[in-house]
Amino acid sequence: MRLSGKRIILGISGSIAAYKSASICRLLISEGAEVQVVMTESAIQFITPLTLSVLSKNPVATGMVRPDQTWENHIEKGLWADLILVAPASAQTLSAFAEGRCENLLQAVFLSARCPVMVAPAMDHDMYLHPSTSHNLAVLKSRGTLVLDTVTGELASGLYGEGRMQEPETILERVCLHFSNRNLPLSGKTILLSAGPTREPIDPVRFISNHSTGKMGIALAQALQESGAHVILVAGPLQRPVPKGIEHVPVETAAQMLMECLRYFPGCDGAIMSAAVADYRPVNPHDQKLKKNGAELNLNLEPTADILATLGQQKSANQVLVGFALETENELEHAQSKLERKNLDLIVLNSLRDVGAGFGTDTNKVTLLFRDKKTVEFPLLSKDETARRIVDSFIPLINANA
Ligand code: CTP
Repeated sequence: MRLSGKRIILGISGSIAAYKSASICRLLISEGAEVQVVMTESAIQFITPLTLSVLSKNPVATGMVRPDQTWENHIEKGLWADLILVAPASAQTLSAFAEGRCENLLQAVFLSARCPVMVAPAMDHDMYLHPSTSHNLAVLKSRGTLVLDTVTGELASGLYGEGRMQEPETILERVCLHFSNRNLPLSGKTILLSAGPTREPIDPVRFISNHSTGKMGIALAQALQESGAHVILVAGPLQRPVPKGIEHVPVETAAQMLMECLRYFPGCDGAIMSAAVADYRPVNPHDQKLKKNGAELNLNLEPTADILATLGQQKSANQVLVGFALETENELEHAQSKLERKNLDLIVLNSLRDVGAGFGTDTNKVTLLFRDKKTVEFPLLSKDETARRIVDSFIPLINANA
């Protein structure tokens, strides 16, 4: 049994998907978990506390005050649990969690929890896609809440679209994965990763970009995930699929990448910036497609913000920041000065002089430089192996801050 001895609070909020919470509860119990259920007033409209109490073999808590006028101790519940799973998490509950409201027992338990919280959103397509909901989910993710994706399908409203809660069996797998990852070196850590190129528009159909495919970034995402980290991947257009379980935040321009990195960085234990960010972008991109007229065309470019350096300025003492450097001469010297200038803990140096290292290849050859000027040179390796070695060097830095 994969959840033997694990204590889980199953939070149920008001959504038609609440009828599936009975199956979730039964599945958790069948894997050996001890389950306490907390329901909101509106959840009770969809499924009875009696059903959940029979399945969980525990009384169900529905309000701050029990029917016998004793106090339902939310602090105790928050301390008791190894995981709080809120499934379904309605738009209303997610908004309350993101704003730190404390209007019902479930919200109070969320606020007082010291354990990880996983939410399985469930709502109608338009509510799910509303910017307020996206904002609330981004806020929660940035603070370390584990947010499950929804699935696209038929919704209770009769509409078809995004917003359907994951099936109980999938939720169970995510819970089991969460616990099985716990003994890995980056368990419980959230790492921000930038990858891929950026695209800087010239007009609605043209852009300036580079040859980055995102291969190295995807390899790093995988290596971080295999070490137990929760990975938030802020990436420009990638030429490879993003592995399951990685939080993918797609962006196009350097400005969008900066905005998303700034949004997520404060909630992260560390960041690895592997994106090939455009250093310049066209000033005032044209609204309409540029017409050719045979004459010379000059593009005015302005510098983009240096995302890595911006994070370096904002980095707190317990965050680890890693950058990449692509140098063509005096490589070690330039990379070391970049590390210091941008306030990094580790810099991964790529030399264009090395055959087999660079854009689009399956191999890479890098040298790591640390703050204390220690260097570690790797041979030509597959990008996957290079990523694993970078992560192996990153782990002690993260754990030194724990
Ligand atoms: N980077 C960034 N934002 C930018 C440019 C670069 O975050 N606008 C990050 C990349 O993700 C990578 C590192 O900075 O981690 C790459 O630096 P490099 O390619 O060497 O470029 P620059 O820092 O711009 O250095 P140089 O002064 O040599 O051009």
